[in-house]
Amino acid sequence: MTSTTPNIRQYNARTFEDAPEVPHEVELELTGVVPQELQGTLYRIGPGRFNTGGFAAGHIFDGDGLVSKFVIDGGAVRFQSRYVRTPKFRAQEAGRGAEVRGLYTQARGLRHNAGQFAADSANTHAVVHAERLLALSDIGHAWDIDLDDLTTKGVCDFNGRLPRLSRFSAHPKIDPVTGELFNFGLDLAPRLGMHIPAGLRCYRVDPSGRLTTIGVVPLEDVIVQHDFAITENYLVFALSPITVDPIKGALALAGFGTIGDAAEYRPEKGMKIVLVPRNGGRQRVIECDPLVYFHVGNAYEDSGDIVLDLVQHQSSEFLSSALKTFRDGVLPLAACPTRLRITSRGRVLRDDIEMVACEFPTHDERRTGREHRFTYLTEFADGSSVIAKVDHLTGELRQHAFESSTTAGEPIFVPRSDNAAEDDGWVLVLTYNAAEHRTALHIVDAARIEDEPVAIARLTGHFYPGFHGSFTPRVAGSKAASQK
Ligand SMILES: [Fe+2]
Repeated sequence: MTSTTPNIRQYNARTFEDAPEVPHEVELELTGVVPQELQGTLYRIGPGRFNTGGFAAGHIFDGDGLVSKFVIDGGAVRFQSRYVRTPKFRAQEAGRGAEVRGLYTQARGLRHNAGQFAADSANTHAVVHAERLLALSDIGHAWDIDLDDLTTKGVCDFNGRLPRLSRFSAHPKIDPVTGELFNFGLDLAPRLGMHIPAGLRCYRVDPSGRLTTIGVVPLEDVIVQHDFAITENYLVFALSPITVDPIKGALALAGFGTIGDAAEYRPEKGMKIVLVPRNGGRQRVIECDPLVYFHVGNAYEDSGDIVLDLVQHQSSEFLSSALKTFRDGVLPLAACPTRLRITSRGRVLRDDIEMVACEFPTHDERRTGREHRFTYLTEFADGSSVIAKVDHLTGELRQHAFESSTTAGEPIFVPRSDNAAEDDGWVLVLTYNAAEHRTALHIVDAARIEDEPVAIARLTGHFYPGFHGSFTPRVAGSKAASQK
């Protein structure tokens, strides 16, 4: 990996202007031809407004979650978007945003910070499972969102089965064979009058939506754990030592300093990889040299070894400081794809792929937990982005370049049909064009990734192209959303 962190200009001053909702479906202007075989709905979520009702986000993670849907049907693309109705959203609507404490944003006045946990922004992932659309973040609730009109139906606690003091994190994984969803949440146990970490609680949600706990990974510290992976038999956690300093954490809870700023990378603590059997059996722990990462790609079992793909960052400053200056439009980022092989004998072998600044690793989700050949990533360069496709079989790296001043979000692969080969389909990616101040959906032929998009569907306006999302073959309905 490069030894210096490049400052990559990706946005302009208008990118993070508050994005309006589009409460009624609108048909988008098209360039090219949307393939008739491509039918379904792409849901996306990300922070869409940052400066409302007296609240001024001090970090991109403190922007309000904007859920959007792109309905691809009969060669046309329809669009709709709604903000998640969190208590934070409603306080801002009422003009009380200055009283809201974010993860990295202090409220005005100690009394609005002391004893207050960070407000739920519901801005990180939109996941479809068991006929539900969930808006998720690491520290908040799972929000139940209407699949058709995107209104907020309420908090999903899985019929009371999600423990009150546990979380449901933002990167659940769905087994493509069993239809089960797996996830984890940081479990805070009240002891001695304080919340101390009890562990990472691991969940299975069956295809009907019933949640059960399958184990708890014990923790010595409160850690920042954003993602994990599954294989056919395990949940795989790489516990990077990004920990909450106990003194800073206590001060933050007392209202002094933000909660987010209490976390710091402590490489001297080392790193553990924990394998949690999906059937709830005994956990296996492997210690290894630490690294900084936030996103996992995929994992699979290979002759007794576990292969785990992730995006390794050069430092944790991307989280702690770089994303605070998001309004500047500059992204200090040094990150490359890395493959870890955890051998049956407990060694961890590491293989980096040469890339300067990438994020958002994805794969054909029919391969989740199984060996995959291709990884798709967003690669950032000065003034524009590319979609990179890694062929793990040949080592080949291919790219789709966007025009200048265009920033891309996470690439999502959609197969041409249920039984199409891996990589036979399309990559769907949202872009923000700074020169035009418009957001668009690009549809790219995955196998011919260098080619011009087969179609581009453009909004008339903009929103930040978001963090994560999901595609489902279900064509969402066209109800208008009337929620306040
Ligand atoms: Fe994420």
